[in-house]
Amino acid sequence: MSVKPKPVGPIPSGYETVDGELAIAGKPVSSLVEEAGGSPLFVYSRDRLTARMEMLRSAMPKRLAINYAIKANPFEPLLQHMAPLVDGFDIASGGELEILRGAGIDLARVSFAGPGKRDDELNAAIAAGVTLNLESENEARRALTIADKLGITPHLAIRVNPDFDMKGSGMKMGGGAKQFGVDAERVPALGRELLAAGAKWLGLHIYTGSQALSAEAIIETQANVLALADRIASDIGQPLPKLNMGGGFGIPYFHGDEELDVSAIGSALSARFDALPDTLKDAHLCIELGRYLVGLAGVYLTRIVDRKDSHGETFLITDGGLHHQLAASGNFGTVVRRNYPVAIASRFGAPADDLASVVGCLCTPLDRLADRAHLPRAEVGDLVAVFCAGAYGATASPAAFLGQGPARQMLA
Ligand SMILES: Cc1ncc(COP(=O)(O)O)c(C=O)c1O
Repeated sequence: MSVKPKPVGPIPSGYETVDGELAIAGKPVSSLVEEAGGSPLFVYSRDRLTARMEMLRSAMPKRLAINYAIKANPFEPLLQHMAPLVDGFDIASGGELEILRGAGIDLARVSFAGPGKRDDELNAAIAAGVTLNLESENEARRALTIADKLGITPHLAIRVNPDFDMKGSGMKMGGGAKQFGVDAERVPALGRELLAAGAKWLGLHIYTGSQALSAEAIIETQANVLALADRIASDIGQPLPKLNMGGGFGIPYFHGDEELDVSAIGSALSARFDALPDTLKDAHLCIELGRYLVGLAGVYLTRIVDRKDSHGETFLITDGGLHHQLAASGNFGTVVRRNYPVAIASRFGAPADDLASVVGCLCTPLDRLADRAHLPRAEVGDLVAVFCAGAYGATASPAAFLGQGPARQMLA
């Protein structure tokens, strides 16, 4: 029976070959792995991070602030690289707050969204001057009580659960019954309560979804976000000091996916910014992005430790797997498993004359990095590269599973 090949995702452009190998920052990957002390290894490229921010800045209106949501990748050297490039950082837990503190980031630039904030997390955030994007009335009242005890004016914004979602997004975070944010119609009353309590009022956070590749859908969502913010501010009876418009900018992971047209989003946003209602005229306007800023800058490298055949199919078994790359294995936010962009890094650009599945070393059939992919023939000792590994790799994978432990990481 012939084995049907499955396409791999698009390899981000601009990668070079040195001595027949994939090169990052001018160095062949085998030398990076050696420098790091072995495989598996995540390599994040400084140049790609910088170039991505420059490209995005040039596409977006000058007025728009761009924040980095560190959940995508909180590797300390990467955070330090991003610090001068972005306007702020978004966190989702007290743990992420401590990571930023440890990286020496100015915590006044940070905002904190996420349901289920514990009292100790609220305490640490308020004490550090972090802006809290409040997810419920209960959370708001706990924050006010804690701030009162600390004798500190808390920096408070309300996360809104809007009455719409982002069409085409891979993960929807708004619209209908959700654990995120306060239902839009209850926001004005809570806003007035926060103002009356003497909090430093920092407006609204409206986050509707992640991983959208349609500029049209993002443009429509941003228009809806601005209109909703205007309605809420009018109802509260005050212009908004700040509006976090969310994000959701996706990256191409799979065959057929295309790069998001950010210049179309930027032009539409500029037109909206030129005609803002009075409630938003003086607002600080920002977006928060994770994977769009860092996802394409990362490559996961894992070494082939076995090559075997079973019932006419070839398996390349690596020293890595889903414990570092849950998303590439298809077990993080996707319904149907499809191949990420994958290559034989130590034979980069060689003819794809073999058909093989790249799997990890875990004893579960879920541990697949590439399924029936056309690749150059690879042998034990070769390195495999999984691209789009800069976001939700190391931190969104169960590294402790089966006693494997984390992958090495480096900024190159
Ligand atoms: C509130 C919030 N901000 C930012 C992000 C980052 O999303 P992405 O990495 O897709 O940009 C998420 C993702 O779940 C989120 O929930």
